[in-house]
Amino acid sequence: MHTRLTRLLGIQHPIVLPGMTYIAVPRLVAAVCNAGGMGILASGGLTPQACREAIREVRRLTDRPFGVGCSLLLPGAAECARVALEEQVPVINVSMGKGEWVMEGARQYGGQVIATISNEAHARSAIGAGVDGLIVTGHEAAAHGGAVSSMVLVPIVRQMCAQQGRDLPIIAAGGFADGRGLVAALALGADAVAMGTRFASSIESPVHERTKQMIVSKQAEETIYSPNFDSYPCRVMHTPGGRRYTRRRLSPPVAITRALKAAREMQRPLGALGRDVLRLGPLEAVKVAYFGAATLAMRKAIHEGNLDEGVQLIGQSQGLVHDVASVEQIVQRVLAEADEVRAQLQRL
Ligand SMILES: Cc1cc2nc3c(=O)[nH]c(=O)nc-3n(C[C@H](O)[C@H](O)[C@H](O)COP(=O)(O)O)c2cc1C
Repeated sequence: MHTRLTRLLGIQHPIVLPGMTYIAVPRLVAAVCNAGGMGILASGGLTPQACREAIREVRRLTDRPFGVGCSLLLPGAAECARVALEEQVPVINVSMGKGEWVMEGARQYGGQVIATISNEAHARSAIGAGVDGLIVTGHEAAAHGGAVSSMVLVPIVRQMCAQQGRDLPIIAAGGFADGRGLVAALALGADAVAMGTRFASSIESPVHERTKQMIVSKQAEETIYSPNFDSYPCRVMHTPGGRRYTRRRLSPPVAITRALKAAREMQRPLGALGRDVLRLGPLEAVKVAYFGAATLAMRKAIHEGNLDEGVQLIGQSQGLVHDVASVEQIVQRVLAEADEVRAQLQRL
């Protein structure tokens, strides 16, 4: 199956692992690349040195193209993007911020920059800025899908690309976990799917076994989409921890205290934190503190399988996940199902 994305990146299949913090680690990224898709390493939670080591680890495990995800607003992300440029990573996936300087850097060595967007305004601005591709994230998605579903947002962004004269590859994210979803995404104008929830529940994923089994057992409607988890509406699994955390927003002092604890654990020096506050301004810095505070609950769910105190980011597509399978099995299944669906459609 060849699309704008497979041609741009030289990959076999239009299937992408998105950059999920603490989950898209070198082993999982390389497994997706080796299965013919493209894995995006998450830089969230990594020091620049750890990010460099992770990039090199991916290269030890695969010789295929891969990406690094950088949420530019967050502390440490710009440093990780600089490391990714120095390491000449084939794809840099930027979100939450202006990525012009990343594009300039990537152009020097023929790298591609893909922007993640979840609404029309951000899509328009990313296309105008000259990105090489887009991840379009619908409402169904784990974490920060926007207000509009993939079903509607993907064709809108495809049309927007045509109107702006840019034939960009689009990766549809949010609600895709099988071959039916892949064919549907292609029909909507996308060139690939990003599957977060599906790959988070693969054998190679570092998610705790208890949490993986919980993903398998949950139905599509058992998620909570709440503005109280961090600073933007965020989709998490409906669990005791998820319910408690999203019932009301943390007070700013509690969020700041927890964010400082997370920053210490991430070995972010005090000087760098001071520069973050100056760069962001006090209001934006408090917003970012909520992201930092939330990482403590995320790690409890991912690393300890603790869903009473921890919170698991998850998409509605959990309702489509029925087993914990290897990445290779998942990719092959998606492709076989997609072939079957295309044949069925042709018979109509
Ligand atoms: C467990 C998990 C953790 C995630 N963590 C992040 C993250 O740290 N940053 C981010 O931008 N998106 C994150 N996402 C969202 C994905 O990048 C992607 O948009 C989403 O998974 C797509 O929807 P799906 O889960 O239905 O496949 C996460 C998704 C999952 C399932």
